[in-house]
Amino acid sequence: DAVSGFDINKKLLRPIDCCPLSKNVEESDFKFPDKSSKTRIRYPLHNLPLGYLDKYMDAIQKMKDLPDSDPRSFKNQAKVHCAYCNGSYTQNDKELQIHNSWLFFPFHRWYLYFYERILGDLIHDSTFGLPYWNWDNPEGMTIPHFFVEKQCNNYNVKNGENPLYDEYRDASHLRYELIDLDYSGKNRDLCYDQKEINLATMNRQMMRNAFDATSFFGGKYVAGDEPIPRGDNVVGSVEAGCHTAVHRWVGNPTNENKEDMGNFYSAGYDPLFYVHHSNVDRMWTLWKQMGGKEPTDTDWENASYVFYDEKQNPVRVNNKQSVDLSNLKYEYKSSATPWMDRPP
Ligand code: C2O
Repeated sequence: DAVSGFDINKKLLRPIDCCPLSKNVEESDFKFPDKSSKTRIRYPLHNLPLGYLDKYMDAIQKMKDLPDSDPRSFKNQAKVHCAYCNGSYTQNDKELQIHNSWLFFPFHRWYLYFYERILGDLIHDSTFGLPYWNWDNPEGMTIPHFFVEKQCNNYNVKNGENPLYDEYRDASHLRYELIDLDYSGKNRDLCYDQKEINLATMNRQMMRNAFDATSFFGGKYVAGDEPIPRGDNVVGSVEAGCHTAVHRWVGNPTNENKEDMGNFYSAGYDPLFYVHHSNVDRMWTLWKQMGGKEPTDTDWENASYVFYDEKQNPVRVNNKQSVDLSNLKYEYKSSATPWMDRPP
């Protein structure tokens, strides 16, 4: 029951032409941010510093205001997630599928890295960090309420329209409903302690079932393998588990292709996608703190992707460059992890 690609025979609510804009600019190799630059802090959404929500909303609104010809626009950023276009992502020159394998964590880390820098640049704040939806902590187990309303007259935003709103979500999960990190497509009855179940789920996927690089990151996906679908590959514990559950829980099940969050091709149109993946990325850092290690295979280290940066220049990055957050100059504000000492 994974999140999957779109079904062309069913109604599609978002465009499927996802190739990145070509700007006739030569791609360049990635350079780490300056050692002396300030580290960006990613805060949990349920505990943002004063004034941070306004800043974040302002940045998303500015992204939405960019024209379609700008690779930093909200729409073009959303499209990054459905691009399988020649040369965009390669491993020894072979086209890649970045889900359901060991490319999942590093690809999304890079995606958010550039997304965060674009947002910061748009509000002229080089310290801006993308918040995270802290769904593994009982305090963060609902959709943060400020994503829910279409109109927000108390915010100083365009026509009172909430930039964090998305029309394609499951209406039964919007008003302080507790998320189910083991969601299978059906709402549970209320005879459970959902928070307790979620902590057990996290413990399983972060500890018990994530005992080595393969079980956590996903199976090896080597040069020469054909992109999608490869049903026999090992999918990492977090990717297959809570990551996918959150996608499905947010997407609207009455849409034929489960837009937005319930389908890869459309997920990037929901602002929740990025804060969700911010927490997914945080799981990598927590797993590493518990002693986990990235794959050391050169096939993994050299796999590369191209993203537009905040100056609209295409930049090629690889997995190896993604493993050390102190080089990338962002970090996660710590938050309680009660699942660490709950039995699975
Ligand atoms: Cu690229 Cu959450 O999936």
